[in-house]
Formats: sequence, structure tokens, C-alpha cells
Amino acid sequence: MAGIEPIADLVIHGGEVVTSAARFPASIAIRNGKIAAIGAPETMPPAAETLDATGLAILPGGIDVHVHFRDPGYTHKEDWASGTTAAAFGGVTTVFDMPNTIPTVATPEILAAKHAIAAEKAYVDYGLYAVLGEESLAHVEALAEGGVIGFKLYMGNTFGRIPSPDTGAMLELFERVAPTGLRVSLHAETNSIMERRERRLREAGRNDPLAHVESRPAVVAVEAVERAATLAEWTGARIHILHISSKEELRPLAEAKARGVDITGETGPHYLMLSTDDYERFKGVIRVNPPVREANCQEPLWQALKDGTIDMIATDHAPHTPEEKTRPVIWNCDCGFPGVEMQMPLMLTAVAEGRLDLCDYVRLSSEAPAKSFGLYPQKGAIIPGADADLAIFDLGQKWAIDDAEIHSLSRISPWDGRKVQGRLKHTLVRGAFVVRDETLVGSRGHGRSVHAIQHMPTPEPRNADKTMAAVTAKRS
Ligand code: NCD
Ligand code: ZN
Repeated sequence: MAGIEPIADLVIHGGEVVTSAARFPASIAIRNGKIAAIGAPETMPPAAETLDATGLAILPGGIDVHVHFRDPGYTHKEDWASGTTAAAFGGVTTVFDMPNTIPTVATPEILAAKHAIAAEKAYVDYGLYAVLGEESLAHVEALAEGGVIGFKLYMGNTFGRIPSPDTGAMLELFERVAPTGLRVSLHAETNSIMERRERRLREAGRNDPLAHVESRPAVVAVEAVERAATLAEWTGARIHILHISSKEELRPLAEAKARGVDITGETGPHYLMLSTDDYERFKGVIRVNPPVREANCQEPLWQALKDGTIDMIATDHAPHTPEEKTRPVIWNCDCGFPGVEMQMPLMLTAVAEGRLDLCDYVRLSSEAPAKSFGLYPQKGAIIPGADADLAIFDLGQKWAIDDAEIHSLSRISPWDGRKVQGRLKHTLVRGAFVVRDETLVGSRGHGRSVHAIQHMPTPEPRNADKTMAAVTAKRS
């Protein structure tokens, strides 16, 4: 290249580019962290560096809208460095972190402190959620201004025991959020039903793993989705249903979409690939909220991914230590397990098996999350001008997941030993290698908060004349 001024920082040759619409052989030129050109090799500009991706598939990096990186507060389970390293090794280039850290992200000050920690340690890009509850009601606007990707509302109890707002509080909270245009992600399980059932099961002496499922039957989620959709429709708040676990939730979700409610939904690999048949083997390790359910939920969930009822794949990466996951009484085992690093290989295995189309998978793992949270097309797309966030896989390589080798601090999951097809070779975040040849080469602090690039559509609050703020301001 002597004498020719490089105008690209990197050109990737020989790979197959995969988008939500097509897969085709092409070279990709990257400049200043962005995709500068996609095309035939001879059309590429001179570059400072090249990468040979012959035989590899180039996907937009995964966007996981549901992870728990535990920092601050539970850094023995995970921290921003280990969590984002795990993401990078899984081909995930953007993560949205949940607010159930200590202290709960409920005020602008707490949010700012978490931003500082993430900015110092993250290897990949990220968004931060703030909690939406009684404790944050007065801070909704300030939290929006402080840089959140969205709000998280806990309709039911889960790890961290964040109090669940009752329906009256939820309505007021949705009224408050609607004018911000930001999306509210919901842990949609109705607290009163499951608290009562858990109490009864404990009284009856049920301490076995399946008692967890029986304390949270699908009606818990169905009732919550239906109620949340009603409040979203009334207020115009945008909502997202986290971790859809059952076939029964699909009806209220589809009905809300048909009525024009701005509602999206996610499911995760564990609901698609594990079932109640796995509890005896994994015991507390498989305990997660909502629970992994009967095998007859799997096919309808796959179908919902294909037909668009469920919009995206997210992992609910929820790390805990082996001690916390293996206590003899099921009620004492912490809920959740790691997943951010395994999602892409697990789902690509399903693609290899013919369960899912590869382009559809790119829509579910990257494009739809970016669109739902206002990051598209800067994130979630392989097009000129987009951030060069790329996951480069050998789609043919077969291997087995080994918990001992994962990069999360939590090396215990129900994926241990599972045979998969599709191995991550390189991950780039804004044009910089974070993982290269299966080795961490990125730098701590490279990750940035994506709230700065977020553009949600214009807010569309409804019934604004009837909100709590509007009616209490009236004078007779
Ligand atoms: C999550 C956690 O551990 O933070 N656990 C879980 O079982 N899913 C919380 C949550 O997302 O509900
Ligand atoms: Zn949850």
C-alpha cells in the first residue's frame, strides 16, 4: 500500500454479510468507527489494516436489552468489566442494564454514579435503566434527562425485592413517563397471585424445584401483560414485555398490538430450549423468574418469533454464585443465570438446525431492539453510516458450552455441556476490535452509553386531561 494514503481504518474481506433482509458476500470498509462502504473487494478504499474473514459470517452485533451486571452492589456476582467482557465474547455489542443494583437506580444522583462506573469499566456499549416505582415517581423527568435508555417496572417480586407498585401507582407512573416518549420495560408477573401461592406451597411443605413453577403459573404473566397493556393504551406510554415465558401471554400481547398499543416483547433462549423436564437435573440452577415452563410452550414461542408477535431475543443475563444457586431448599436459591455470552451461539444453533431463518435472527437479535429503543439505524444495522458494531462468527464450528470457560463471574448455568454450532471469532464495537481471534483485545472504558444517540418517536400521551397531575391542579 506504499504511497497510497489509507482512507479506511479497516477493511474486512472475504466474509458473508448478514442483514435482516439478505446474506451476500461483501467487503466492509470502516472509518472513524462507522461503516464507510460495503461492496466488492475491488471497490474498497485503501486501508490502514485488513482482516481476512474468509468463511465467516458478519452479523450486526447483538443488542441485549435485558442484562443484570450487578455493579454497584453485588460485584461478587458480576461487574461492568466482567459482564461486558462476557457480552463481547458472545458477539453482543450493546447491553441495557437493569436497575436492581444497590442502591436501586431511582434518583438522578444514583444514575449518575452508575454511569461513572459503567463508563470506567465497560468494553461494549450500554444503556442504563432507571426503576419506575413509588421511589422514582418524583424523579421521572430528571432521570430521563440524566440519560436512561428506558424505565423498568417490577409488577412482581424478583431478585432484589424491589417493591411492586399497585395498579393505581402504575397508572400514575405511566402518566408521568408517557410525555418522555421513553419505553417502560415490565417484569410482568402479578405479585399478589404469586406471593399467595408461594406462601401456601411453603405451608404445604413443598421445597422441591418444581414448586417454583407452581408458585408462578402462566396466569400470573397473562394477567400482568393484559393489565399493563390496558394502562399503556390509556396513557400512551410505550411498553416492553420482558422475558415472555408462556404460550398464554401471546394472546394479550397480540391483542394489544392489534389495538395499536405501542408494545414490544422479548423472550430468551431458556424459554425456547429448556422446560420443566430439566428441573430434576438442574434444580436451583434453573430457577429463574418467570420460570422455565412446560415443553408445550416452546413451539408457540418459536412461532411468535417468526410471526412478529414477539419482537426480539434478550437474555435476562442474571448471574449468581454457585453457592447462591445450589441451596437445598428451592425458595432459597437466587433466581436467574448468565446468558449474555451464550445467546448468539444457542440461537445460531437453532438456525443451523433449520428452526429459524438467519436473516430473521438478525432482526430479532439486533434490528428490532435498536428500533424499539430508538437506536436504529446507528445501531442494529450493517449499512453505510451505521456504527461498525459487528459479530463475526464461524457458523459451521461445533463446540460445547463449558461453564468453567465463560467470562461472566458466575460460572454456573443450565447451558453447561450443551452442544452448539456457531463460534464467535471477532467482535468490533464502533470499529474497534474488542475480541479478536477469540482473544480479548479491547480496552476497559471503550464502551459508551447509547442514550446520547437515542431518538424515540414523538411522544403520544393520551387522556392527558385526566392524569393525576391534571386533576389535582384543578380548582373549583
Ligand atoms: C433477575 C436478577 O437476578 O436480577 N432474576 C431473574 O430470575 N430473572 C431479576 C429479573 O429479571 O426478574
Ligand atoms: Zn425480570
